[in-house]
Amino acid sequence: MERTLSIVKPDGVERGLVGEVVKRFENAGIRIVGMRMVRLTRDQAKRFYAVHRERPFYDSVTQFMSSGPIVVMVLEGDRVIQRNRDLMGATNPKDAAAGTIRKDFATDIEKNVVHGSDAPETARTEIDFFFNAIEICG
Ligand code: TYD
Ligand code: MG
Repeated sequence: MERTLSIVKPDGVERGLVGEVVKRFENAGIRIVGMRMVRLTRDQAKRFYAVHRERPFYDSVTQFMSSGPIVVMVLEGDRVIQRNRDLMGATNPKDAAAGTIRKDFATDIEKNVVHGSDAPETARTEIDFFFNAIEICG
């Protein structure tokens, strides 16, 4: 059994896509064991995406991620890290497979509706960034 961090990004919240994303997880048999709405400060967004600090899109993406409320979720299930990535689709919606969240809803490579951890170590770090133990209903 694995856990991963999912985020409905500011564009997804603003456009009323929280329910759509949640429904896709539930329909896939993925359990939501933690969920909260939060608005990141610019500094918090920079810390969350620190791995990308040398990339050309770092300023823009951290600005975007702190531009409005987000919904953060802890997902639990068998191979859930990869299964969530499969439901999300490729980073650039132009490359995303049909039926994925990003193909169906993302408007560009930055405003791509959802975040998902990409490996067990990042999942642990990212879950700990937003949730403490008593906020997760395992
Ligand atoms: P990345 O971790 O590469 O993608 P993913 O979200 O699929 O794991 O990048 C993090 C976010 O940074 C990505 O969701 C959107 C933004 N981004 C850009 O704005 N431009 C880019 O060229 C890339 C690669 C990412
Ligand atoms: Mg990533």
